[in-house]
Amino acid sequence: MKKNILLLFGGGGTEHDISIVSSKYIEKNLKEIGLYNVIKVEIGKDKIFRKINEDGQNGETVELNFKRQLVGSAVEDIHIVVPCIHGPPGETGEIQTFFELIELPYIGCGPEASLNSFNKVTSKLWFNALEIPNTPFAFLASMEDKQRAHDLFDKYGRVFVKASSQGSSVGCFQVFKKNELDGALESAFKYSNYVLVEKMLNARELEISAYEYDGQLITTVPGEINCPSKFYSYQEKYDPYSKTTTEIIAPGLSAESIKKMQDYARLAFTHLKLRHLSRIDFFYTDESEIFLNEINTFPGMTPISMFPKMMENNGHSFNKFFKDLIAKNIL
Ligand SMILES: Nc1ncnc2c1ncn2[C@@H]1O[C@H](COP(=O)(O)OP(=O)(O)O)[C@@H](O)[C@H]1O
Ligand SMILES: [Mg+2]
Repeated sequence: MKKNILLLFGGGGTEHDISIVSSKYIEKNLKEIGLYNVIKVEIGKDKIFRKINEDGQNGETVELNFKRQLVGSAVEDIHIVVPCIHGPPGETGEIQTFFELIELPYIGCGPEASLNSFNKVTSKLWFNALEIPNTPFAFLASMEDKQRAHDLFDKYGRVFVKASSQGSSVGCFQVFKKNELDGALESAFKYSNYVLVEKMLNARELEISAYEYDGQLITTVPGEINCPSKFYSYQEKYDPYSKTTTEIIAPGLSAESIKKMQDYARLAFTHLKLRHLSRIDFFYTDESEIFLNEINTFPGMTPISMFPKMMENNGHSFNKFFKDLIAKNIL
């Protein structure tokens, strides 16, 4: 009998719909691999798990129990999970904590690496500890710390305010005027417990795919996001009329800059103990400074997403990558 792969997606966060699109790419690959039975389950905005039928429609409610079984009208053993979730509860590590508890194998980073990478404040502290350059910042635990944000604004003249635990540019605000700073901080606190304030850069946005392939950690050459508005906002990311374009190979970078970024990506991957796959995003300024911006522990896999394209461009088949990962980890 074929073993069962649970393909989980959704999650109810701001990137819910994106993860549905990513899951279709994974499903297509799993079907091409052909060795397994793929069970698709969407975690709804109401947190309920629903099986998705062959016709793509919502089916019955199901539950994953402590015996690694998916229970609905039938009871099915699950042999591995692919948590294809961007943002909570996947990139936050919550769902992986449950898989660890019930000893169910899964693809991607563990709970600790996920949470450390998702929280923008925590990841900054890690980058500093690892001496990986990142944008100058201050962080606030409450509005009582707002003087730190004001000091940073006075120093740099414009800042970026970000909710600490969000993705897809939600809870991110550009602040050009000091009298708009407190409003941005208060808005960011509506999304997260901590708020990060960063020097606003004028920089190119570069991304590296970092993944394990044939027992080796691979870091690709950087690709580029060209966002004319210089703020790769939620709308720019996902609106069909977005003016943003991407390039699989960022043009005109020196071999030295590429090597530096790859070294930082490798350092972050190994020391934050990422696993299997990630996309690591950088800023590259006019002065050729390199700053690590963030790590995505379950990168997008939509038709416009960079992760699989950069992997393929690097001469590695996503299908083989996924096939090997499943074979190595399945019960
Ligand atoms: N310090 C900064 N200076 C200039 N632009 C920034 C800065 N930080 C973020 N941005 C812009 O905001 C976007 C979203 O920020 P990011 O930290 O990547 O959050 P998210 O996790 O939501 O993708 C970036 O892609 C970039 O366009
Ligand atoms: Mg980002």
